[in-house]
Amino acid sequence: MSPDLLHTSPRSTPAAVGDFHPVRVIAITGGKGGVGKTNLSVNLAVSLAEQGKRTLLMDADLGLANVDVLLGLSPRHTLADLVAGRCTLDEVLVEGPDGLLIVPASSGFRHMAELQPAEHVGLVHVFSELQRALDVMVVDTAAGITDSVLTFCQAAQDTVVVVCDEPASITDAYALVKVLSRERGVDRVHVVANMVRDPNEGRRLYEKLARVCERFLGDVALHYLGAVPQDDWLRRAVQRQQAVVKAYPGSPSARAINDIARLAARWQPPAAARGNVEFFVERMISGSVAA
Ligand SMILES: Nc1ncnc2c1ncn2[C@@H]1O[C@H](COP(=O)(O)OP(=O)(O)O)[C@@H](O)[C@H]1O
Ligand SMILES: [Mg+2]
Repeated sequence: MSPDLLHTSPRSTPAAVGDFHPVRVIAITGGKGGVGKTNLSVNLAVSLAEQGKRTLLMDADLGLANVDVLLGLSPRHTLADLVAGRCTLDEVLVEGPDGLLIVPASSGFRHMAELQPAEHVGLVHVFSELQRALDVMVVDTAAGITDSVLTFCQAAQDTVVVVCDEPASITDAYALVKVLSRERGVDRVHVVANMVRDPNEGRRLYEKLARVCERFLGDVALHYLGAVPQDDWLRRAVQRQQAVVKAYPGSPSARAINDIARLAARWQPPAAARGNVEFFVERMISGSVAA
């Protein structure tokens, strides 16, 4: 990684006064691959942008990125260029629907999937330098319980765990929540059930996960955020490389994700820094100093 990325002090380029607005950061994760994290991230971000929220979508699946593929984008630069010191974060940004800003990553560069913990923290801090007025950032994490996933969830104010009706999804989600709570102090997790086949399945899956968490990890609060149905319209939108909330807004999955986005849009931005690794923390510190 370029030494600049790790050592630049975010305060060396102060944001304009209007940019001190705190940003609500939502990490989408789940432990298991293929449960729909990227589709939820992309559609949640597009939906929030449609609802007028100034939204940034970060592809934090650093080794196998595919937010750009889902949105049919051909980015000139990615986070790999930023990490190599070839460009700034601002130059990595791509504009999507409704003014949504996207931070694409790269696929097939193994070193990006194997960054050091300090480099993940460095990446989190680079966002504080962004000279953009934002309300919310959605972070699409990789599968697994690697350092990148844990650091990006720890650095967000909200973690959304995506599960589906497969035994491995529930056990992986539990493993992730356990490590997040024990090692990273995350004590609150939202749950979205994806690819559900009937309206009650989502809550059943949530309750299954909540039961084991309650039994073995007493100090984590789980909240049920909603369910997204199994939907061929979503698959069709993926083929067209468009967000389903844009391509087929009346479809069952689009309506469900719009409902989730409406709930998330009401979450308040953070009032103060928590004192550990956190996205846009300098804006919070500067904001509270300015206030
Ligand atoms: N609600 C859904 N209905 C139908 N197919 C879905 C749904 N959510 C995700 N998929 C499909 O599941 C696969 C995995 O989704 P993806 O978002 O890439 O998962 P992850 O990021 O968790 O690996 C994709 O082929 C996607 O089209
Ligand atoms: Mg993904």
